[in-house]
Amino acid sequence: MGRGLVVVGVAVTVAVTACAVAAVVVGKRVKSRRKWRRVVGVLAELEQGCETTVGRLKQVVDAMAVEMHAGLASEGGSKLKMLLTFVDTLPNGSEKGIYYALHLGGTNFRVLRVQLGGQRSILEPDVERQPIPQHLMTSTSEELFDFIASSLKEFVEKEGDGSDTSLMRRRDLGFTFSFPVKQTSVSTGILIKWTKGFGIEDMVGREVSECLEQAMARKGLNMLVAALVNDTVGTLALGHYHDPDTIAAVIIGTGTNACYLERTDAIIKCQGLLTTSGGMVSFLYVSRQTSSDSLSDELIYFVIYLLTLTYLHLHQVVNMEWGNFWSSHLPRTSYDIELDADSPNPNDQGFEKMISGMYLGDIVRRVILRMSHEADIFGDALPKLSMPFILRTPLMAEMHEDDSPELTEVARILKDTLEIPDVPLKVRKLVVKVCDVVTRRAARLAAAGIVGILKKIGRDGSGGITGGRSRSDIKMKRTVVAIEGGLYTSYTMFREYLHEAMIEILGEEAAQHVILKVTEDGSGVGAALLAATHSSDHVDNVQLL
Ligand code: BGC
Repeated sequence: MGRGLVVVGVAVTVAVTACAVAAVVVGKRVKSRRKWRRVVGVLAELEQGCETTVGRLKQVVDAMAVEMHAGLASEGGSKLKMLLTFVDTLPNGSEKGIYYALHLGGTNFRVLRVQLGGQRSILEPDVERQPIPQHLMTSTSEELFDFIASSLKEFVEKEGDGSDTSLMRRRDLGFTFSFPVKQTSVSTGILIKWTKGFGIEDMVGREVSECLEQAMARKGLNMLVAALVNDTVGTLALGHYHDPDTIAAVIIGTGTNACYLERTDAIIKCQGLLTTSGGMVSFLYVSRQTSSDSLSDELIYFVIYLLTLTYLHLHQVVNMEWGNFWSSHLPRTSYDIELDADSPNPNDQGFEKMISGMYLGDIVRRVILRMSHEADIFGDALPKLSMPFILRTPLMAEMHEDDSPELTEVARILKDTLEIPDVPLKVRKLVVKVCDVVTRRAARLAAAGIVGILKKIGRDGSGGITGGRSRSDIKMKRTVVAIEGGLYTSYTMFREYLHEAMIEILGEEAAQHVILKVTEDGSGVGAALLAATHSSDHVDNVQLL
């Protein structure tokens, strides 16, 4: 009897324990399922927020074209600055001689020495890249330009040019300065604002070429800025040099921007100097500031001015500064809003913050951080994940393009960069999906931006924004867009998504006429070409008609 009781007692205890263990296990499973559901919910919300249906992309295309018109109509008429470049003359292939170029724009700066042989020949340029020390990006203009001038001097001394190595011989320089500049001539301009993490306050509002020339003089370098250009403009110059059907250039790298050839008569706000570049015509429109006696005089001048422009069909390169484009049709998420609020330039560069290499990695980081707050799928202490910009876009791209079955690269980057070890495979897959959503949106928006330009100038096969003609009666011209920037050139998935979206928006037929051409080192070599074109030594220019 007593033994029997003991046995029953033991059995009951075992059963109770088993039940308790089972309850704990089930409870854990339920909890972990709930966690997982929450995380999947974060992903679903992200996907919805980043949606770029063709319909939405077409709205972005239209908005881009409308804003381009507004930006050309008046100063401050749009968030798109549509800056004049005074480049109405592009290299024609006859340029000869040695020209230098300096490119300051992102995390690196480059110095180039380009030898032009005439007959459209460019010898392999000598190029030297250097990272910009982080502290110089926010120090003083003098410190930054002294650093650049020193590196340029070392480069000039090292390279020589086969003849006179004296630093005192004057050399012409193309200066690619990849920030928004209000140009006052083809070789001068004033910095409007910094972007891409630069923030040297004393420089804003100052004459850029003068700052460089003063620094070069301090270092004993006799160099003259013959052309001050945006990187998009350099890229367009090189693209056009090799292929005259090139009508626009786009940069998708650390930052993003585009420029294109616009008819001068469409640049309503340019009712001033028709050209200062030494080109064919130099015609001063007598504007309100002048001493014209009567309103009718002013009107007559204006009509003559417009007729001249229309008759000559002159063109000028316009630097859109599309990074600052904004439209309510852009798919914006809470991550974008937070990133913008935490940035040194809130409410600025909205398009750039959704597209360019400076920001994509950080959007992904923010999503992963939100996931880890919703449910501790990455473990508890994650100090690194809270650090802004710790996940750089090239690393994000590596994770995205990891095609190993176990996602070993993803595991490595999460461990090494974010200090999150032992992430299970299904979570690693989730991280890849986040990268995919963020990159796909960026690439598709960039495609919509490009089509927006094509639409504005009537090259999208639809007859232009005000044309109203149907597709069938438009014969599409071959249209080349030069492209530069690591996001496009080195990130296959980005490039593929961009191409796919171009076809979706334009349609197969029209898309066949649009060629996106990588223009290697365009921003630098193109600046040297423009220096040659606009150098006082060179007279044989081609006017953009
Ligand atoms: C700048 C542009 C530049 C682009 C690409 C943007 O942040 O505002 O001037 O062209 O980056 O480098």
